[in-house]
Parts: sequence; C-alpha cells; structure tokens
Amino acid sequence: MGRFIFGIIFGAVLICGGAFIYFTSGMAPVAATAQPMPFERLLAGMALHNKLHSDAPKTVPIQPTAANLLGGAHVYVQDCAFCHGMPQAEASAEGAGMFPHAPQLFTRRGMVTDDPPGFTFWKVKNGIRLTGMPSFEKALSDKQIWQVSLLLNKADQLPLSVAAALAPAPAPAAAPAAKPAPKRR
Ligand code: HEC
Repeated sequence: MGRFIFGIIFGAVLICGGAFIYFTSGMAPVAATAQPMPFERLLAGMALHNKLHSDAPKTVPIQPTAANLLGGAHVYVQDCAFCHGMPQAEASAEGAGMFPHAPQLFTRRGMVTDDPPGFTFWKVKNGIRLTGMPSFEKALSDKQIWQVSLLLNKADQLPLSVAAALAPAPAPAAAPAAKPAPKRR
C-alpha cells in the first residue's frame, strides 16, 4: 500500500515537474506564429463546443430581412473586416498573423453558414478566450450582434443590395492627365 501511494505521489510530482520545466524553460510556444502546444487545439475546441451547446441562444429574435442584413453588413465592414476579410478581396494579412488565424468569413473554407446563428451570436458577444477574437458586448447592441450573425449565416446567399454594400469599392475614374510641367528656362 505504502509503495502504491508513493507511486502516485511520485507520478504526480513528475508530471507537475515536467509541466513546470516545459513552461519555465522557454520551450512552450508563446509567439502568435508558433506551432500549437500539444493538445491545445483539441482542449480549446472541446471547451468551446460544450459551452456553445449549453449557453448559446437557441432562438433568433430578428428576421433575416434585407434591412437587418444591411445593418449587419455595416457592422461587419466597421468592426470585423480588418481581421476576417471582405468578399472578393485578398485575405486579411493581420488575420493570418494571429494565432489561431482569423477565419476569412466570406471564403468557402471560412464561412460559418452551417453554424446556428445563436452560436455566432455567442462568439461575437463573448469573444473567444485565448484567441484574437474580441468580445463585442460593450461595443455593439444585441440587435447589431444578431444582424451581423445573420449576415454571416447567409453569407453564401445574400440579396444583391447587401452584397453591394460589401463589394470592393469601384476603381477610381482615371485621373485627368497631368499638365506638363512648365518648361524651365
Ligand atoms: C482583432 C481581430 C478580430 C476581429 C476585429 C474580429 N474577429 Fe472574429 N475571430 C478572430 C479570430 C482570431 C478568430 C478565431 C478564433 C478561433 O480559432 O477559435 C475569430 C473567430 C470568429 C468566429 C468563429 C469562426 C468559426 O469558424 O467558428 C466568428 C463567427 C467571428 N470571429 C465573428 C466576428 C465578427 C462578427 C466580428 C465583428 C463584429 C469579428 N469576428 C471581429 C479575430 C477577430
């Protein structure tokens, strides 16, 4: 029995010591550009998944009307595009420089159209801990958060008027030809 207890204590000390050395020796990754720690992605993913299933709202209080989607588009341009990119545009370089990367929410790979809008609402309102995803609870009203959540839910089937609000700005008209510089005498 004594040996068994000694074994457990010894094992616990070994695990704690190993973790201590891992975190104090500079071996654990801290740069945004470094590889994930062992189990980091799995554990963080599991925690978020379970939280969403228990806490995210199950019903959506507003309809995906053109007006609400347009409201969402304005929120998106102002508060999200910097990290999550715009439709038909280059991916956000800042979003790619984060750990984990900010998904490009208007690309096939990054779209969250399969997520219930309540999940997106929860993520935008509360943020995602230990990632660059901020909480917008203090910056946006619940209505604005629902609007942008519905926009992302319908990202692959937006009405034209809404898609236009997210379209790249048209190229500026050709500038009038510059006057030739006056000749020096
Ligand atoms: C400063 C950068 C930044 C800004 C600004 C930002 N996000 Fe994020 N967002 C992130 C990062 C990084 C992640 C990835 C988190 C992860 O992998 O768990 C993320 C994740 C998300 C996700 C989850 C995507 C998925 O695949 O599950 C949604 C939805 C989202 N953001 C929506 C928004 C909306 C809407 C806004 C604007 C109101 C916004 N974000 C603003 C950085 C940002």
